[in-house]
Amino acid sequence: MSVTSDLVRRFQTARRDSSLAVLEGFHALKHALRFGAEVLEVIASNPQELERMAGELAPDLTGDLEKRVVAVPPDALAELAPQAPRTGVVAIARRPKVDVDEVLRDRRAAPLVLLEDPRTMGNMGACVRVAAAADAAGVFTTGSNDPWHPDALRGAAGLHFALPVAAVEGLPESDRPLVAIDPGGQELRSSELPSRAILAFGSERYGLSEALLGRADMRLGIQMRDGVSSLNLATAVAAVLFAQRL
Ligand SMILES: C[S@@+](CC[C@H](N)C(=O)[O-])C[C@H]1O[C@@H](n2cnc3c(N)ncnc32)[C@H](O)[C@@H]1O
Repeated sequence: MSVTSDLVRRFQTARRDSSLAVLEGFHALKHALRFGAEVLEVIASNPQELERMAGELAPDLTGDLEKRVVAVPPDALAELAPQAPRTGVVAIARRPKVDVDEVLRDRRAAPLVLLEDPRTMGNMGACVRVAAAADAAGVFTTGSNDPWHPDALRGAAGLHFALPVAAVEGLPESDRPLVAIDPGGQELRSSELPSRAILAFGSERYGLSEALLGRADMRLGIQMRDGVSSLNLATAVAAVLFAQRL
């Protein structure tokens, strides 16, 4: 078996393996390494260009990165990722184990983001990215979509490794106040947001379920001008998290 077909098989297997994460693009790899991921392999179509990018954008990682890279021709890279990243690099890392109960018990004054049945990978990734930037306690998702899907990782620029990200069966039991973020809620004032809240956001098409709204301690909405129905999911997450931080 050639090196390339063996590689293709390893990447195909990694995409189906819930203990692994496939990283597409330099920024995903950069954040994974920076936030302590166990990176198992790094493949690049142009190792010199990767070295240049790392020197410019991640000088903190250069020594580590260069030692790991395996070079492949550009057409081989295209076989490892359906949409070959422009930066010419893909990698496989181990997903960190997330202890859901431990995240819920965390006493730090940081909110936990709950996405109810999110539908688009790019949106999930953008939510993880902004939650990491805002130093949230974590991102949990319900529904059938894997928040660690390679497209979500790409949308998050690999920031899944910066905070706990996990799929959960449903709304978890916890002592954290549950705040439903919903366009129909009372006007959101950041000073009224509990510091350790579970901030629940609904799906792109249908919003929050009646079941979740019925369990919420508060229902808050981001004021918008007349005629606008709602914000994009990730935009709403960003608005609430940063309103709380400012
Ligand atoms: C695209 S919106 C869903 C729109 C859905 N048709 C509805 O009416 O809720 C996705 C999620 O983003 C959040 N969201 C969007 N705009 C919001 C706003 N103005 N106020 C509060 N939450 C908002 C909510 O959590 C919502 O469930």
